[in-house]
Amino acid sequence: MITTTRRNFLKVSVAIPAVMLIKGCGGSNNSSPNSSSVSLSDVSALPTSTDTVLPIPHEINPSLVAGKKVFNLNIQTGVHQFFKDTNTSTYCVNEANSSALTYLAPTLRIKNGEQVEINFSNNLTESTTMHGHGMHVPAIMDGGVHQEIMPGQTWSAQYTVKQKACTNWYHPHFMGNTAQQTYKGLAGLIIIDDNESEALDLPKTYGVDDIPLIVQDRVFDASGALDYSPSRMEIRHGYMGDTFLVNGKISPILTVEAKQIRFRILNGSNARIYNFSFGAKNFTQIATDNAFLANGVRLSSLKLSPAERAEIVLDLTAETGNTFTLTNGSTTLMTIKVTALTKAITTMPAVLTTTLTKFNNPTNTRTFTLGRSAGMNGKFTINGVSMDKNTTNERVKKGVVEVWEVVNPMNMAHNFHIHATHFWIIERNGSTSSVPANEQGYKDTVLLEAGSRVKFVVKMTDYTNSKIPYMYHCHILEHEDDGMMGQFTVVD
Ligand code: C2O
Ligand code: CU
Ligand code: CU
Repeated sequence: MITTTRRNFLKVSVAIPAVMLIKGCGGSNNSSPNSSSVSLSDVSALPTSTDTVLPIPHEINPSLVAGKKVFNLNIQTGVHQFFKDTNTSTYCVNEANSSALTYLAPTLRIKNGEQVEINFSNNLTESTTMHGHGMHVPAIMDGGVHQEIMPGQTWSAQYTVKQKACTNWYHPHFMGNTAQQTYKGLAGLIIIDDNESEALDLPKTYGVDDIPLIVQDRVFDASGALDYSPSRMEIRHGYMGDTFLVNGKISPILTVEAKQIRFRILNGSNARIYNFSFGAKNFTQIATDNAFLANGVRLSSLKLSPAERAEIVLDLTAETGNTFTLTNGSTTLMTIKVTALTKAITTMPAVLTTTLTKFNNPTNTRTFTLGRSAGMNGKFTINGVSMDKNTTNERVKKGVVEVWEVVNPMNMAHNFHIHATHFWIIERNGSTSSVPANEQGYKDTVLLEAGSRVKFVVKMTDYTNSKIPYMYHCHILEHEDDGMMGQFTVVD
C-alpha cells in the first residue's frame, strides 16, 4: 500500500508511525499543518523539472469597449508539466485563442470605480461556475452556486468595481464539485487598485518586485497525474497532499534584486493551513484579504487558512548575494535568490490607508455554529443543517450593522468565509485583545482553530435582492462540498 518515495521516506524519517501514512487512514485534525492525514504522492520515478524559475501568471490586457474593461476567458482543459517530460492533465483559464497557461488562471487587474465585464466560456465537459472571491458585487454577478455555466455556455460577470485596493481571486463554486475543479487548476488572482494604492511608495511592478504567490499542496500518482480521490476520512479532515506548488511549480526559485519585495500570498490549497516564514528574517504584512492594513505589522511568521490572502513586504535591501527560503514549518516551498540592485528602491510608508471603516453600534446578532451530523457518514453542517441550494438560511437587512459570531465546537480547525462584503474581527474566544494586529482590517475569511470562536462586525451596504442569495461557508473545500455552507439574501 505504501511505496516509499524519496518524499515520503523523508516523512517517515520524521517519526510519524508508518501505519499512519496509509492513504485514507489519516489521524489527527488539520490544525497541525503537517498532520498525518496527508495523502502521499508516488512520484519517485518521475524526473524533477530542470526549469526552476518561479512562473508568474501573466496579467491580461483587457479590451476597452465603451469605457468598460472586457475580459474574454476560456475555462478549459490543459496539459501541464509539473515533472520533467511528464504530461499532467489539468484545468486552466486562458484568453480566447491563447494557451499561455496550462495550469491556474491569468491575473485580472481592475481599479476601483471601473466598469468591468468578464466573460467566462466553459469549454469543459462538466458544468462549473466562476466566483470572484472577495468581490463586492451583486449576488447575480457573484458566480456562486446559482450562476451555473453549462458546457459550451458563456457567463458574463458585469459590475462596477466598488471596493478598496486588495488581492482577490477567482475559482469555481459549483455545488458539490468546487474542490475537484479547483484542485485541477482553476484559480487566478483579481488585483484591485485604487488611488491610494497607486500613490503609495510600495513595490508595484508586477512579477518583478510585486510577486503573486499561489500556494497549493497536491497529491500526484506514479504517472504524474493529479490525484483527487479523497476517502470519506479525507473529506472529514480535508484533503491534504505532500507535494507543494507555488504558482504551479514544485520548489521554484525566485531571483529578485536587493530591495523591498512585495508578495501577494494566496493560500490556494483545498484544506491545508500554512504557517509561512522566511527563516529568521522578519517581514511586514501590509494588507489583509480585502484592503491595506492601516499600518504595516511586523511578523516573523504568518498563518493563512484556505482562501485567505496577505500582502507582505520582505526587505531584501542589504541582502545582495544571499538566499532565503519561504517555508511552511520544516517544508521549503520556494527559494529566493537576491542579486545586486540596479534600480531605485522604495521605502516602507508608515501609513498605508486612512479610510478603513470599522462599523460601530451593531443592532443585530447572528450565530453560526459549525458541526457535523451524527454517524460515520454524517455531513458537515452550519447551525445543524447542510447546504441546500433551495433554502435561504439568513435574510440580512441592508444598512444594519450586525455582529456575526462563528462557533467551532469541533476538535478540528475550520474557517469561515462570506460572500458579498468584508467584515472586521472584533473578538477571538470572547476577548477583544486576542485579535492579532494583522487581523485588524478588512477580512472575508477567518480561521477558527479547534474549539474556538470568532465575532466580527459586518454591514451589507447595497445590492439587495430577495431571491438570489450569497453564500457563507467553510473554505476547506471538502467541507464546503460536503455541506458546510449556507445562504443569505440582502434585503431592504
Ligand atoms: Cu472562495 Cu464561496 O468562496
Ligand atoms: Cu467567496
Ligand atoms: Cu471546515
